Amino acid sequence: MAGKRKRDQANPGRRIALVTGGNRGIGYEISRQLAQAGLTVVLASRSAAAGRAAAQRLRGEGLDIDVQRLDVSSAVSVRAAVRAIIRRHGRIDVLVNNAGILADPHGARVVGSSPAVFRKTLATNFYGPLLLVQAATPLMLAAGYGRIVNMSSGLGQLKGMGIGTPAYRVSKCALNALTATLAAETRGKGVLVNAACPGWVRTRMGGAKAPRTAAQGADTAVWLATLPPRGPTGGFFRNRKLISW
Ligand SMILES: NC(=O)c1ccc[n+]([C@@H]2O[C@H](COP(=O)([O-])OP(=O)(O)OC[C@H]3O[C@@H](n4cnc5c(N)ncnc54)[C@H](OP(=O)(O)O)[C@@H]3O)[C@@H](O)[C@H]2O)c1
Repeated sequence: MAGKRKRDQANPGRRIALVTGGNRGIGYEISRQLAQAGLTVVLASRSAAAGRAAAQRLRGEGLDIDVQRLDVSSAVSVRAAVRAIIRRHGRIDVLVNNAGILADPHGARVVGSSPAVFRKTLATNFYGPLLLVQAATPLMLAAGYGRIVNMSSGLGQLKGMGIGTPAYRVSKCALNALTATLAAETRGKGVLVNAACPGWVRTRMGGAKAPRTAAQGADTAVWLATLPPRGPTGGFFRNRKLISW
């Protein structure tokens, strides 16, 4: 760890990116692509073993990957993870809130859904990102640089809101609102805050029939995570194009 800290201090220009749910799926690809772009990636995983294994694979590709245990649904875990990352790297320049769950049972509707499913879904898809932006944004504002990307979904768009997976839809809609209001708070201060929809992606969540690879699903989030200073803030993007909330 001391060696790592020394290396970061010797490389002050190297951006530090925290990616939640980095052990598999789209988060793993975001971690890979950000590291390929020259960032130091802290690959966060709620399972320490899965995180270590994923980090090992990416390091085998010559990428600069650190690993951190982080269960985003636990405030204690978020606090401990942020403390540990600051101890090792001194800052968080980029935060990608990628970890997410789809916990609605098949065929779920609002009427008849258990409030417990809403609570569980919001704990991961909304409160996790909330706690992380609350911890990271002050550091970013103090540094005058930050990129926050919230991995949302077209299912959270208010425009054309349909039926099915109600807890998931509500959680992503809340995440979109968080994105927009935080972007308004940080506008003009060097911190760009945006939401991304990856499209329908072949992962454990997206299933085998999805048309997109995880690498394709990662692209827009990686683009938003590395925006230049005059890049957009307060938007919702798919395929690097603005879409409606
Ligand atoms: N796939 C799609 O078609 C699609 C479409 C729209 C949006 N998205 C969004 O894209 C993001 C990534 O999805 P994916 O398709 O890659 O899903 P996935 O394959 O199911 O992977 C989800 C990731 O989130 C992690 N995670 C879940 N709960 C967590 C928690 N409490 N703390 C920390 N990590 C947690 C998982 O860790 P474990 O391995 O420990 O479970 C896993 O790394 C999600 O936010 C999802 O809503 C996906």
